[in-house]
Amino acid sequence: MCGIVGYVGPKSTVDVLLGGLKRLEYRGYDSAGVSVINHQGQLETRKKAGKLTKLVEDIEKAPLGESNIGIGHTRWATHGAPTDGNAHPHLGGEHQKLSLIHNGIIENFSELKTELLLQGAVFASETDSEAAAHLVAAQYAKTGDLTESFRTVVRRLHGAFTILVVHEDEPGLVLAARRNAPLVIGLGDGENFLGSDVAAFVEHTKRAIAVGQDEIVILKAGSVEIENFNGEKVTHEEFTVDWDASAASKGGWSSFMAKEIADQPQSVGDTLMARVSSDGYVNLEELASISKLIPNIDRIIMVACGTAAYASEVGKYAIEAWAKIPVSVELSHEFRYRQPILTPNTLVVAVSQSGETMDTLMATRYAKEAGASVLSICNTQGATLAREADAVLYTHAGPEVAVASTKAFTAQITAIFLLGLHLATVRGTQPKEDLQVIGKELLKLPGDIADVLTTTDSTRALAKKFKDARTVLFLGRHVGFPIALEGALKLKELAYIHSEGFAAGELKHGPIALIEEGQPVIVIVPSPSDPDSLHAKVVSNIQEVKARGAQVIAIAEQGDAEVSKYAAEVIYVPAIHKMLAPILNVIPLQIFAMELAAAKGLDVDQPRNLAKSVTVE
Ligand code: M6R
Repeated sequence: MCGIVGYVGPKSTVDVLLGGLKRLEYRGYDSAGVSVINHQGQLETRKKAGKLTKLVEDIEKAPLGESNIGIGHTRWATHGAPTDGNAHPHLGGEHQKLSLIHNGIIENFSELKTELLLQGAVFASETDSEAAAHLVAAQYAKTGDLTESFRTVVRRLHGAFTILVVHEDEPGLVLAARRNAPLVIGLGDGENFLGSDVAAFVEHTKRAIAVGQDEIVILKAGSVEIENFNGEKVTHEEFTVDWDASAASKGGWSSFMAKEIADQPQSVGDTLMARVSSDGYVNLEELASISKLIPNIDRIIMVACGTAAYASEVGKYAIEAWAKIPVSVELSHEFRYRQPILTPNTLVVAVSQSGETMDTLMATRYAKEAGASVLSICNTQGATLAREADAVLYTHAGPEVAVASTKAFTAQITAIFLLGLHLATVRGTQPKEDLQVIGKELLKLPGDIADVLTTTDSTRALAKKFKDARTVLFLGRHVGFPIALEGALKLKELAYIHSEGFAAGELKHGPIALIEEGQPVIVIVPSPSDPDSLHAKVVSNIQEVKARGAQVIAIAEQGDAEVSKYAAEVIYVPAIHKMLAPILNVIPLQIFAMELAAAKGLDVDQPRNLAKSVTVE
């Protein structure tokens, strides 16, 4: 968690840093701070508990000096409460000439702090990060070489960190190091940038380099050097960021979440683009590096967390049905601790919007070490997961800023559908024509999503009606089950309402006991044309809960007359192939959760206690 940004160049450093932090605030918003070295060569630091706006207001009241170098941080608190004192940057050295920011957790900080206290260091915060600031300053006092001191210190740190340092004695230099936490360099003309991800600097440059594990960056206005922790030079290929800077701004919407929900016709369309031909044929060139494995895959394990895990659950139904490969979905943080059986013919598919979720990264590292191949489905170019996988299938959702995932979710499902169709095509598990029918249905999705987005009045009204609900239940079957889970997650994280998703078939095995008079129950109803008569079964479930007093809101296919007889409210979505329906069904649930949270006066983009990228275990 935490967002970091660094800059050296001719622009107003405070503006660059605050702009970068604004785009990174999704990574944590407990406090924010910046340090700059002003034109008089003095280090100036300002930090404030609370959201970035507090820091901005503070700087507006008492501006920092003009400067051409600085670092900035937005925090998700781990060690120490979210106070001004615990906010980053942290200063080090007798004269406090060094400033440091950190994302991650320094696991051996307690031992390092004890050592520093014995040497007389005075700590101003309860954070693990401050120990690193004192250590670099102390080492520099001994050697007089800032880069060498930095190298020595990062070698001593255990855990996960991206660390940036500036020092008054080196007013043109930003040092950075990364281990198990993200760091990307933005390359400019006479200026250079550092960020937790490309969103930090995409407004200024689209040329980027992803920094590798255990590497140090020596950043100056006119040069960028990368080396490993032993000081040996390293080179990485530059890439071009395909995110549009304006995509990471609200653009007139009331919230990022509202904008990102509305982006979905585009983000699903962009994820399909150039991967499905107009006659429905799917080909994923990105999978060339694992093409030899594809005919031999005997098992797929999808690893992911949160919403990405629910996208994977939807994908499981599709891949098994189309490609006839057994698929299991595992929460990344559970996966490696149960000693899963992996072979060279196992394909592990790691799904992550950020590509920096530590649990998912650790799961994929475990899988690779055990001999499996890893395909990552990722939304962020240059992310660690994308770089470490054997192959990458990017979702093209663009930057997702709101903490609650919406457009990344539908793009992930879209990408997994493409994967299923590609595997089925290559392995010849279904007649090509049948697969092409589904491919053509995929192409209808952007238009159908747009239709769902034009008819949201009743969903918004329902959200207001249920704003005081204490608990909301969600039911679904087949691919509707993960959508019930996702609907419940959205409501928990945005509206702080207890909500649970259940497989509708499980109802009578226990959850029906929860139903009492007035209980809101949202039901994802399969198509009435479903050949397995799941529709009739779900309609029965609706009747069962209704008989016990539930207020049922159904998400159903247009023209489904049966469901309206029993549900108190029905939200209709266009008819589509039954496997693809989750992409349409989830949209009213996203809007319901967002509107309900807004009706409660909550911040829908930055819900309490959360950060978008969970970069610690
Ligand atoms: O970046 P990732 O896709 O790996 O993130 C996984 C989860 O942390 C994420 O989906 C989380 O559950 C969202 N806040 C849900 O809206």
